[in-house]
Amino acid sequence: MIKKLFNVLNQPLGRIGIFIIALVVLSGAVWGIAQAQKPPQQPIQFPHNLHVRLGIQCLYCHPGALRGPSPGIPTETKCWGCHQQIAIQGTELPKLAAYVKNNQPIDWVPVAQVPDFVHFVHRPHIAAGLNCEDCHGNVSNMTVYQNPQVMNMGWCLNCHRAKTANNPQNNPTNDPAVAAKLEALRVKLTDCSTCHY
Ligand code: HEC
Ligand code: HEC
Ligand code: HEC
Ligand code: HEC
Ligand code: HEC
Repeated sequence: MIKKLFNVLNQPLGRIGIFIIALVVLSGAVWGIAQAQKPPQQPIQFPHNLHVRLGIQCLYCHPGALRGPSPGIPTETKCWGCHQQIAIQGTELPKLAAYVKNNQPIDWVPVAQVPDFVHFVHRPHIAAGLNCEDCHGNVSNMTVYQNPQVMNMGWCLNCHRAKTANNPQNNPTNDPAVAAKLEALRVKLTDCSTCHY
């Protein structure tokens, strides 16, 4: 049976068949990867790079990262605070003006998201001295926001382990008291119930 199948596959038509199947599988995989990494179509192509380079702080537009349960996306009222004084030009600003005129909320597509059964809050991370860029990448080079990595459990745990390892970076003087603190923090930051409850 196996030999018979092998004979069929070894004939020219069989080989072409294998080639076509391989091609379909491969192009499907490439397409899937490209889809997963492509930034979504946003209602307005908001240029992060331009605004960040103007010196506007991340927290001016996403204040909830420090103060609220979630960072939030600015409403058109905040955009309009500046843009009513700026010439409406290009392809995107007329869209913004239309949202404002119709008093319609801009339906931004969320990109940085973890599932509902995961407990993530920004505040302890910012308090621990992390920068937005540590998790969101170099936003000052992005137009439409794109995650620099998949935000999955392995990603969370890798950082939680790295930040609590007893090594020269976290404990330069190899102080036993610091080592004990790091160990206690490691237990907490890798405990299932810290992120799931
Ligand atoms: C603190 C002020 C400020 C805020 C807030 C702000 N912008 Fe801007 N934005 C600017 C400035 C300044 C420019 C550059 C204008 C120029 O180069 O002519 C700009 C440029 C833009 C451009 C590019 C325009 C072009 O020439 O193609 C778009 C699109 C845009 N902003 C959308 C938005 C949206 C949407 C929001 C709200 C989420 C927003 N902006 C919030 C100040 C602001
Ligand atoms: C002028 C306002 C403005 C500034 C300044 C700004 N952002 Fe944004 N941000 C937006 C808007 C509007 C969106 C929604 C459009 C998009 O996803 O590209 C957004 C989306 C995001 C998202 C994805 C949100 C989601 O729903 O998934 C992240 C993460 C983010 N910004 C991080 C940053 C960081 C980090 C900085 C500073 C380096 C920054 N932003 C500066 C307006 C701003
Ligand atoms: C430790 C990693 C980490 C750091 C540091 C971090 N973020 Fe996030 N951010 C996340 C994760 C994870 C999510 C998804 C959260 C969710 O789905 O509840 C997220 C979501 C967001 C969103 C979309 C959520 C929303 O409210 O719509 C914005 C905007 C954002 N972050 C901005 C920022 C800004 C601005 C900073 C810096 C002040 C920052 N983040 C720092 C990991 C981080
Ligand atoms: C880049 C590093 C980094 C990443 C990525 C990261 N964290 Fe953290 N996380 C930290 C640090 C540092 C602390 C603060 C530890 C302390 O208390 O000093 C922390 C604290 C926490 C806390 C608070 C624990 C407590 O009770 O005080 C929770 C919950 C948490 N992280 C969940 C997550 C989840 C969920 C993800 C992934 C979606 C994630 N973190 C990704 C570094 C990270
Ligand atoms: C630092 C935060 C963190 C800790 C600690 C953590 N998880 Fe998760 N977990 C996540 C995130 C984020 C996701 C969602 C993304 C994903 O599926 O990887 C997740 C997803 C899951 C899922 C769903 C998997 C799936 O494929 O849908 C299960 C089950 C799970 N975790 C179990 C656990 C168990 C059991 C522990 C303890 C041994 C644990 N987690 C500890 C952050 C964490």
